[in-house]
Amino acid sequence: MSISYSGGEAEQAVTRTSMLPEDSNEGSLRPRTLSEYIGQTKAKENLSVFIKAAKMRGEPLDHVLLHGPPGLGKTTLASVIANEMCVNMRVTSGPTIEKPGDLAALLTNLQENDILFVDEIHRLDRAVEEILYPAMEDYAIDIIIGKGPSANSIRLDLPHFTLIGATTRSGQLTAPLRDRFGVTLRLELYTPAELADIVRRSAGILGIEIEPEGAWEIASRSRGTPRIANRMLRRVRDFAQVEADGVITRPVADAALTRLEVDAKGLDNIDRLMLRSIIEFYKGGPVGLETLAATINEEAVTLEDVYEPYLLQQGFLTRTPRGRCVTRKAYEHLGIEYYGQQSIED
Ligand code: ADE
Repeated sequence: MSISYSGGEAEQAVTRTSMLPEDSNEGSLRPRTLSEYIGQTKAKENLSVFIKAAKMRGEPLDHVLLHGPPGLGKTTLASVIANEMCVNMRVTSGPTIEKPGDLAALLTNLQENDILFVDEIHRLDRAVEEILYPAMEDYAIDIIIGKGPSANSIRLDLPHFTLIGATTRSGQLTAPLRDRFGVTLRLELYTPAELADIVRRSAGILGIEIEPEGAWEIASRSRGTPRIANRMLRRVRDFAQVEADGVITRPVADAALTRLEVDAKGLDNIDRLMLRSIIEFYKGGPVGLETLAATINEEAVTLEDVYEPYLLQQGFLTRTPRGRCVTRKAYEHLGIEYYGQQSIED
């Protein structure tokens, strides 16, 4: 399996949600079965029924769309599905399939009931996407042979397969593509309790000694995201080894994460800059996303996909029709006096 991930240079903190080279051993931490997979209870319960039913009928699973913020385990869940269905999974991503022929080659090399996982499916080229429609619906592709008036179209049958698409932006999917998925699952940010379970499980696999309070400290500062929790675990282990006796206790985790500039609520420098800028330049909001992005020199999509979900979930930010507003809770967290705002629902 191969997959390429791209990430900007700007976001370098331990709290970054995109894949980093240091996450390359993430694979060893990945659960292999639904029972090992922690959290996402609703998605898991539904999937378990669909998988059982498909297996009973001896059919491939219906096409599945996974959407939600980055780092929540969409690829992991897809590989769990493949494992539970006892089939192979081919992994690719929207931007790496450049031409219709690339997709045709992938599809024709699948075996019966295999899974094709397409990450960032919203970034598929339109001409490539059109190949997917008959492939998903009829397990067939139409190939044009020749050029000009003598060109001929032939239909090529494909093995029955399951497409699993993953996206952080389901709103950007075209309606014809979205409608062809039989199952749509939204992944939610994880609770601290779920993340603490994930941290303890990962520590066990990596042979790291950790106290329950240490796991909880990492969990509650990892912005609802297992990828961040696992990365923090490895960084905190470094501090525990060099500056303590190797055991991750709560004070060790607290000191390490504070040194990494992750505050008690899991906010990093960019989160704080975002909230502070809304307060200082726009009186707490509302401010449009593009304006805010320009103010802090970040991409609007990065703010929307990576930073906002956690700030919204934690109640530091609200989204209104006129733009983003910070809440009283954000003022209090940043230690800035709150005089009330004229126009926001707090
Ligand atoms: N590692 C990363 N994500 C996980 C999850 N959801 N369950 C168990 N271990 C994980």
